[in-house]
Amino acid sequence: MKIENPNPIQWRFSERAQQLQSSFIREILKITQQPEIISFAGGLPSPATFPVEEMKAAFDKVLSTTGKTALQYGPTDGYMPLRQWIADSLSKDGARIAPEQVLMVSGSQQALDLLGKVLIDEGSRVLVETPSYLGALQAFSVYRPEFASVLTDDDGLVPASIAPVAEGARLLYSLPNFQNPTGRTLSIARRQELVETCARLGLPLIEDDPYGALSYKGEPLPKMVAMNPDGVIYMGSFSKVLTPGIRLGYVVAPLPLVRRLELAKQAADLHTAQLTQMVVHEVIKDGFLERHIPTIRELYGNQCQAMLDAMAEHFPAGATWTKPEGGMFIWVTLPKHINAMELLDEAIKQKVAFVPGAPFYANEPETNTLRLSFVTVPPERIRQGIAVLGKLIAARM
Ligand SMILES: Cc1ncc(COP(=O)(O)O)c(C=O)c1O
Repeated sequence: MKIENPNPIQWRFSERAQQLQSSFIREILKITQQPEIISFAGGLPSPATFPVEEMKAAFDKVLSTTGKTALQYGPTDGYMPLRQWIADSLSKDGARIAPEQVLMVSGSQQALDLLGKVLIDEGSRVLVETPSYLGALQAFSVYRPEFASVLTDDDGLVPASIAPVAEGARLLYSLPNFQNPTGRTLSIARRQELVETCARLGLPLIEDDPYGALSYKGEPLPKMVAMNPDGVIYMGSFSKVLTPGIRLGYVVAPLPLVRRLELAKQAADLHTAQLTQMVVHEVIKDGFLERHIPTIRELYGNQCQAMLDAMAEHFPAGATWTKPEGGMFIWVTLPKHINAMELLDEAIKQKVAFVPGAPFYANEPETNTLRLSFVTVPPERIRQGIAVLGKLIAARM
């Protein structure tokens, strides 16, 4: 029997819920997913790199050998063999990490939310790079911090700009490798200085590192967590090296913090799916990533170079851009009078899309900046799209 609602509910959302906003990028993606648009807007990894066959075989093996365990509830902190694998691989990179310090999460995005939940009170000061990852600003914003911006330049975050804004800060959120959105990398000297500065100030340092393995040239730079495992919180993800659809990431933290994060996770979702953790472990345990990651690096490296070459040819003098050595993004700075949001309106009319830079700033935005991603667009379409953008920018110089 259908019950009538004579008194329709007037939804009274919490103040927190009233502040929630959809990520600007997700809004743009709705427009740009139309196939005729050349989209440099996405931050999605290339599906060409997804190891479908390996995943299929691993699902089959896990279900046929340990299906009953895989389909059961599991522990909040995660599947131990996978936590051990993560601790071992970080230890190979020089950090001394115990598996008990590893908490498995449903995408590293969840780690951002949990860190916000356990470290941020309303009005707490949170230090972020200028610009920073939009998804982190969004996750932390729910807990209503006061964001203080730390400067960045071509070598990444500027450690000397921390102390003047560090008073009472709860954390510093950093992206040392091929940063989202700028593609910049924190130099070795700066890594050392950053870790030392945070240690001196007693400031927890978050090292968010989903792109670290995707360097096109040479070996990745040392991880900051290896320099100070007691002061650095490391976040990793399988999204960019395997597939994002399985929603699997991890956070590595000193024990007192990891226990709090575990309690917060228990309250949020009990645990991350056992089945996917067991499948990922099955796929990677015998060295698959060492064979697979070079193929991703090659694909992205070639497309990055195609975009850089096209920009050099088509962008007018007065526009500048980063030259990433890995990852998925290039960051463009236009003369101050050009508004990237207005440029996007024009570009979409000509079937090209990108993300304006403003949403990546916690405080005053630089409206003359924009982010370009090259990973899902073949070189020929990259050249076409960049030629269109170059003309539009030139017309506004
Ligand atoms: C810097 C950064 N951190 C975290 C994430 C979240 O990744 P996931 O939740 O897929 O692990 C992303 C996703 O694009 C990102 O760019």
